[in-house]
Amino acid sequence: MEKIVIEGGYPLFGEVEINGMKNAALPIILASILTGDKCVIEHLPAISDVTLALEILRSMGAGVRMINRTTVEIDTSYIKGGNAPYDLVSKMRGSTYLIGAELGRFGAARVGWPGGCDFGVRPIDQHIKGFEALGAKVDIENGYIVANAPEGLRGNSVYFDCVTVGATINVMIAAVLAPGQTVIDNAAREPHIVDLANFLNTCGAKITGAGTGVIRITGVERLHGCTYTIIPDMIEAGTYMAAVAAAGGRIRITNVIPKHLEIISAKLEEMGAEIEEYDDTIIIGRTQELRRANIKTLPYPGFPTDMHPQMSAVLCCAQGTSIVSEGIWENRFRYVDELHKMGAEITVDGRTATIFGVERLTGAPVRAVDLRAGAAMIIAALAAEGRTEISGIGSIERGYDDIVGKLQRLGAHIKKMYCSDENELLDAN
Ligand code: EPU
Repeated sequence: MEKIVIEGGYPLFGEVEINGMKNAALPIILASILTGDKCVIEHLPAISDVTLALEILRSMGAGVRMINRTTVEIDTSYIKGGNAPYDLVSKMRGSTYLIGAELGRFGAARVGWPGGCDFGVRPIDQHIKGFEALGAKVDIENGYIVANAPEGLRGNSVYFDCVTVGATINVMIAAVLAPGQTVIDNAAREPHIVDLANFLNTCGAKITGAGTGVIRITGVERLHGCTYTIIPDMIEAGTYMAAVAAAGGRIRITNVIPKHLEIISAKLEEMGAEIEEYDDTIIIGRTQELRRANIKTLPYPGFPTDMHPQMSAVLCCAQGTSIVSEGIWENRFRYVDELHKMGAEITVDGRTATIFGVERLTGAPVRAVDLRAGAAMIIAALAAEGRTEISGIGSIERGYDDIVGKLQRLGAHIKKMYCSDENELLDAN
C-alpha cells in the first residue's frame, strides 16, 4: 500500500505547469470512437483515469499508441461496440460516454454500470431521457446499460430536468452522427463541454452553442480524425491555488485559462490571497491571515463543486466561521471526518458544512476518500503542524498528474512511500 507523507508548515514558492483537463480528456478519448479514424490527442494528463479510458478503447479493438507522455494516437477504425470489459468500465464515471459513442457509431450500446467517486446517489436518468429522445430504447440488464436504435438515431429536442455535465456530453456525442437537428436545452456550460464540441467540430461535426444553455447539433454523415489539444485543467490549477492559500508563499501557475479560474480567484482574494492574472499564467501569493468566506457550489459559471473539499481545507485555517453549501452532490462531505482527525472544527447539516476556523491543524493519519477529498487532505497537511500520512492515494492519482513531484518542486516536504510487509513505511523511489 502506498501513502503520501507530508511534513507540514512549509510555504510554497516557484512555478507549476498545469496539465490537460481530466474531465475534457475522458469524453474526447471516448468520443474518438465516432470518427472510425486516427485521432492524435495532445496535452493529456498522465493520470490513471486516462490510462483506464485508453485501456477500455484498446480492449474494444482500437489501436492506441502513446507518442509521448501526454500525446496519444488513437485509431478506432476496427473497434467493435458492446464489448468493453465490465471491470474496467465500472471503475470510473466517464465510461458512461461509451454509451453515447457506441450508440452514435453503431446504433447500439452495451456498457457496464459506471463507477466513480461516491457522492451518494448518481443517477443516469437524464442520459437515458436524451438517448430515448433520439430514438433509442434503453434497458438496464444484469448491471449493463443496453441501448438500441435499430433504425439509427434521429435528431430531436432534448430538455434536461437538471443541469448535468455528463448527460449534456453524452447526448452531444450520440447526436453528432444522427440525421436532422438536435437541440439540447438546459445544457451544462462547463469549459470541458466547449472543449468536446471543439474536438468534435474539428472532426467534422456541426455543433453550435456549446458553453451556453442551448446546444444545437446538425447531424453529419461521418466524422474524420484530427489532431487536438486539450484545454488546461481549471480544477488542477484551483487546487494549487488553494494549496498556496493554505500553506502560504507565492507561486506562478502556467498553462491556465484565467477566465475559467475567475470565480476561484475571486473567492481566494476574498479570503486574503493576492492574485495577478496574465494571458496564460497566474501568480498567487498569501502572506496575510486567512479570512472566513461562504461558498455555494453551482453548475458553471458558479463555484465548481470539484473545488469544494479543497476550499473547505483552506477555510479550516481561516479566522472566523465559514459556510460551505454543496449545490450539486447529495453527499460530498465524507472528507470532513478526515479533517476532524487533524483538529478541524466542522459540523455538517444536510448539504451545508459550517467550518469554525482553528488556530492550527495538526498532522494525522488520514484517508483520501475520493479524488478531491484526497486533494483536500494534501492541502490541509501542507498547512498543518507535523506529519500527515494519507492513505487511499489511488483516488488522488485518478485525477492529478504527478502531484507529489509538482509540490516537491514548490518546496513542499512531501513524498510517496509504501508500506512493507512488516508495516514499515519505505521510500517509494
Ligand atoms: N444528475 C441526475 N441525473 C442524471 C445525471 C446527473 O439527476 O442523469 C444529477 C446528479 O445526481 C448531480 C447533478 O445532476 O446532482 C450533476 O451531475 P453531473 O451529470 O453534472 O455530473 P457527472 O457528469 O456525473 C461530472 C464530473 C464530476 C463533477 C460533475 C459536476 C466527470 C467524469 N465527472 O460528473 O467530476 O463533479 O460533473 O461538475 O466529468 C471530479 O472530477 O472530481 C468529479 C467528480
